[in-house]
Amino acid sequence: MAQFDLTSWMVQRVDEIDLALDQCLPTSAPEPLGEAMRYSVTNGGKRVRPLLALAACEAVNHDATENLSPMVRDAALRAGCAVELIHAYSLVHDDMPCMDDDVLRRGKPTVHVQFGEAQALLAGDALQAQAFDCLLSGDADIPGDWRLAWCRTLAGAAGAMGMAGGQGIDLASVGRPLDQPALEHMHALKTGALLRAAVSMGGLCGPIDAEVARALTTYGQRVGLAFQVVDDVLDVLSDTATLGKTAGKDAAANKPTFVSLLGLDPAKRYADRLIAEALGALDAAGLAEAHALRALAMHVVARTH
Ligand code: IPE
Ligand code: IPE
Ligand code: MG
Ligand code: MG
Ligand code: MG
Repeated sequence: MAQFDLTSWMVQRVDEIDLALDQCLPTSAPEPLGEAMRYSVTNGGKRVRPLLALAACEAVNHDATENLSPMVRDAALRAGCAVELIHAYSLVHDDMPCMDDDVLRRGKPTVHVQFGEAQALLAGDALQAQAFDCLLSGDADIPGDWRLAWCRTLAGAAGAMGMAGGQGIDLASVGRPLDQPALEHMHALKTGALLRAAVSMGGLCGPIDAEVARALTTYGQRVGLAFQVVDDVLDVLSDTATLGKTAGKDAAANKPTFVSLLGLDPAKRYADRLIAEALGALDAAGLAEAHALRALAMHVVARTH
């Protein structure tokens, strides 16, 4: 096969994702709550989580990648958008003064700066509920057992043993150096859980055996952890204009990160090793043709923002 072109693959899918996200948002929410929700979702994130869901769906349907049925396409988009809505909610709350106290996100004022803390809090709450509504709507032919598995996976990834739990550890660890297992655990929960869920939920949209399911879990776990390690690295190496969020915040806030634990270069090497393990898991399960998943994993460590 000719060299896989990740950029054009992504450009095409980000358009689809943005449209689907727009359709997942409520049209008649009281203002300014509705506007705060829309602002937090439709302001140009990278859409890594829905892209991973689509890539996983394409990997398990590799015989029909170019020709997925409209139901399967809708299902994978819905799974990815639901994770993105939880992600958007997590960012709204993460930026609030009681958490990281950030004023800039995706190059714009954060939601609480724009709409006030109370509306930001509620926008996060409502986005979480909206994510599950998104999983329960859409094409009537989406099998009920897919929806059930998605809801269970997403609830686990968002809750106390997932993103919210990891955020809790993050805030309880300010000024406390964590050892590597503890830091890995925190990162795996606060960021890894949603990325891993995106991969698993996309992988549910097609024929999948236990070996492939396990490989996708390993892939999602490694890529999810690497994603936060790279976020830690970029916080140090990059600048505010490139990131669209304030650079240098982790050290200023005395957060334990992979850079504070290992140093810059070892943190980068650690992310590389995680990605190699993610790719190895795909190979071992016969998913060598999963071009988009492979390219996205490499993109996670090569990204600049
Ligand atoms: C930022 O996530 C917060 C983390 C979990 C590291 P992203 O880097 O995916 O943010 P957006 O969605 O592209 O803005
Ligand atoms: C956030 O981690 C993880 C979330 C669950 C939102 P960070 O606090 O490092 O994310 P940024 O750097 O603000 O995007
Ligand atoms: Mg944070
Ligand atoms: Mg933050
Ligand atoms: Mg960060």
